[in-house]
Amino acid sequence: MENKQIAISQFGQPDVLVIQSSAIPEPKAGEVLVKVAFAGVNPIDVKTRAGLGWAASENKDNLPWVPGYDIAGEVVGCGDNSARFTVGDNVAGFIGFPLQGGGYSQYLCVPEAELSLVPDSITLEAAAALPLAGQTAVQALDKAAVKEGDRVLILAGAGGVGHIAIQVAVAAKAEVFTTCSEANLDYMATLGAHAINYQFAPVSERVEEADVLIDLVGGDAALDALKCLKDGAKVVTVPTLSAELICEKAKLLGFDATGMLVDPNPEQLDALLYMVGVGLLKTEIYKTYPMNQVAQAHEQIETGHTRGKVLLDMQC
Ligand SMILES: NC(=O)c1ccc[n+]([C@@H]2O[C@H](COP(=O)([O-])OP(=O)(O)OC[C@H]3O[C@@H](n4cnc5c(N)ncnc54)[C@H](OP(=O)(O)O)[C@@H]3O)[C@@H](O)[C@H]2O)c1
Repeated sequence: MENKQIAISQFGQPDVLVIQSSAIPEPKAGEVLVKVAFAGVNPIDVKTRAGLGWAASENKDNLPWVPGYDIAGEVVGCGDNSARFTVGDNVAGFIGFPLQGGGYSQYLCVPEAELSLVPDSITLEAAAALPLAGQTAVQALDKAAVKEGDRVLILAGAGGVGHIAIQVAVAAKAEVFTTCSEANLDYMATLGAHAINYQFAPVSERVEEADVLIDLVGGDAALDALKCLKDGAKVVTVPTLSAELICEKAKLLGFDATGMLVDPNPEQLDALLYMVGVGLLKTEIYKTYPMNQVAQAHEQIETGHTRGKVLLDMQC
């Protein structure tokens, strides 16, 4: 049996993603071997493939490199001392972040401590949509200490991070405002947010006195959104490229502002899986591509207009 992986041997356009074969790895002590059913595709995968950002510069002498941080699949082997999981368990995880990656693999050895059990009530597709995006959403809301009654403005509510952030904030009884294009207005309303069409007018003309800004867009959209905030508001700006600029402007205006880098946390994934299991959270899958269509999956993320998540089916 072979282990097909999607690797990049050089940075560039989506066609640098090629399928390579390797032996199925043996789990070491404390690891399990996962047969990956679905791998999530995130904007950082696309940026790194193009040679942009920290993960690309750190891995430039480490090619070929297998991208991917989100996996869901079945445990098919256990190393010595592996006690948490047994063969047949379904698991998901935010793995190898930020330098190692490896999620775009059919088989992968992962330290048990990086994985969460996926209950039978949750599909592996739904689980694969959660790790990086879900933990980013939770950690951004935590950094802003969002609480009941807060008016929370989330830019890009329809995206991978945004659609989860809205639902978690609504579950915390915040009043949620979000920006999206016309095509996503109804979708945003079904999640319980007041939806604002950014194509129609700047959000600063539509929202005021917000306690919290969760910025998932950056740049000019984030600078405009600072005008929606009340005195002393909290700002969490998630895209790393413009974080310094947004924080600087926000602080000049008297806001409590910070950027962030998501930090893998299996307990948070356990909680998100629980929310999905009891119906408090629904992951939106825009499309699942077979692994040999990974280039199209990256092109979809590059449109900047994916609703929810893009996944790779690693077994077909
Ligand atoms: N720092 C970290 O640790 C970290 C972690 C995760 C993600 N990120 C970054 O956070 C950002 C969001 O990630 P993601 O996974 O949610 O991305 P994504 O899924 O690709 O976001 C796509 C969404 O963005 C919306 N959008 C595009 N332009 C918009 C605008 N001007 N105003 C409002 N919405 C807009 C689109 O909605 P419409 O189609 O309706 O326009 C679409 O639904 C990315 O820049 C990503 O790299 C950073």
